[in-house]
Amino acid sequence: MRFFLFIMMNMTILSSEDFITEMEYAKMLYANPRGIGCHLCHGKKGEGRIIAKYKSRGKDKVLKAPAINNLDKKTFFKALKNPKSIMPKYFLTNKEMEVLYLYIKGTSKSNRTRRE
Ligand code: HEC
Repeated sequence: MRFFLFIMMNMTILSSEDFITEMEYAKMLYANPRGIGCHLCHGKKGEGRIIAKYKSRGKDKVLKAPAINNLDKKTFFKALKNPKSIMPKYFLTNKEMEVLYLYIKGTSKSNRTRRE
């Protein structure tokens, strides 16, 4: 009986379609994209951030990651496929880039994690 219950429980878990929504997945991916989290450089909501301040030849320099919540999809995808400067190279699938894009767009307006 115990064993049977165990199997039943597993079946319910496996058959419930989404454990997490696309936006919840994207939120996790944004913080932990199989590499260094986007939020560490681009800010929690993709608003852009100062990464470091330093001096070079006596001049104050600022290393910034740009805002990424105001881009069109093409620019967003292109930057991930061909990163410049210190932006790391990720090996994300198109679907992953797509949900990241939607997530960033979503957080820039309100703070919702689900699409209505
Ligand atoms: C180590 C810091 C760092 C991390 C981590 C990082 N980026 Fe970047 N990113 C940058 C910098 C710096 C630039 C600006 C590059 C340049 O000079 O064009 C940039 C550029 C971009 C751009 C293009 C912006 C534009 O205006 O064209 C996008 C989109 C982007 N990053 C998305 C992401 C996403 C999504 C992640 C996580 C998967 C991520 N970045 C992780 C530093 C970072």
